[in-house]
Amino acid sequence: MHSRERFLAALRGDALDRPPVWLMRQAGRYLPGYRALRAEHSFWDVCQKPELSTRAALEPLDRYALDAAIVFSDILVVPLALGLGVSFGPGEGPRIARPLRTAADYDAWNLDGVLSRIDYLPRAVAHLKDTLKDRYGILGFAGAPFTLFAYCVEGGGSDDFREARTLMHRDPALAHQALTTIADVVADLLLAQVDAGADAVQLFDSWGGLLAPDEYRDFALPALQRITAKLGARKVPTLLFVRGGHHLLPLLGESGVTGFSLDWRTEWAIARSMYPGHLLQGNIDPVLLLGSPDVIRRRTRALLETMRATSEGRHSILNLGHGILPGTPPETVAALVETAAEFR
Ligand code: CP3
Repeated sequence: MHSRERFLAALRGDALDRPPVWLMRQAGRYLPGYRALRAEHSFWDVCQKPELSTRAALEPLDRYALDAAIVFSDILVVPLALGLGVSFGPGEGPRIARPLRTAADYDAWNLDGVLSRIDYLPRAVAHLKDTLKDRYGILGFAGAPFTLFAYCVEGGGSDDFREARTLMHRDPALAHQALTTIADVVADLLLAQVDAGADAVQLFDSWGGLLAPDEYRDFALPALQRITAKLGARKVPTLLFVRGGHHLLPLLGESGVTGFSLDWRTEWAIARSMYPGHLLQGNIDPVLLLGSPDVIRRRTRALLETMRATSEGRHSILNLGHGILPGTPPETVAALVETAAEFR
């Protein structure tokens, strides 16, 4: 099987020679080629110029036997296009110049033609597809509504997103309105990526795990359902990653997605028994990649064997349980990918 065939077979739940492999944040700062690109171009330039985005996305494919590419972009393209002002300070997290705190802040969101201000993302997918042809699977992505809402309200990164979670309870109507608007932009953005050549899409709910199940049900889930209603009508394979979301797993089936990208703290066999027919992806701890290649090989093989024991390896994609950390040695990534590629 070649890479794209294997990736598509996993999405369909067909028999596999072995599960396909790709890695969250596979095209990041841990790669010297990416750092060299960033020495010449700003982060937003790499996202907004399809030729540069493709160069970043190809870096890991040139090095490792990966089965799929993820378009190089960022989840914060949505608040950027809404006019909130998003920047990345050197060595810090993102900063949002005009955070959402009041109804007047929401009314200032620039919804008119918002998708046209993110058209560089589907154009980056099209450029990537044109370069890769049918050799690799291609993933599009977007932030899940709650995580985007959390950044919009907080104004940047945070450990607990206290402002965002407070706003949900102080002004639930405003929170619902913002989540609904974000969901509609995200759905259209994902469909545009599918039209441009993405085989599947992933929603990153990096902060969804902060919510209690009832909060997730009341706020995050309805917004996800708006998205999956639109994508489901087009039969788009949709993966949902909720970092720290193990306590939410029983609920997440109601989101309407076709699969889950599991956090490293979730036990694969338990998730599989809850969701026998869903696509599951994951879930090696990215911190392991800071350790020894031997441990990575052993853990990766053990996970692949669990996939085989629980579903004959069907509906399974090998990945990390969160993104590759900056500072990860490229050699340990090689140990993981080689173990997956050689597994039979
Ligand atoms: O291969 C890939 O996955 C690259 C594409 C990609 C990026 N960001 C590039 C990026 C993807 C899929 C993302 C998703 C993303 N962005 C998430 C969800 C995944 C997760 O890690 O939980 C989140 C929360 C963001 C928001 C974001 N963007 C943050 C918090 C930061 C700064 C901190 C950091 O991790 O660097 C970014 C900037 C960013 N996005 C970089 C990259 C490669 C680093 C920018 C640079 O200095 O070059």
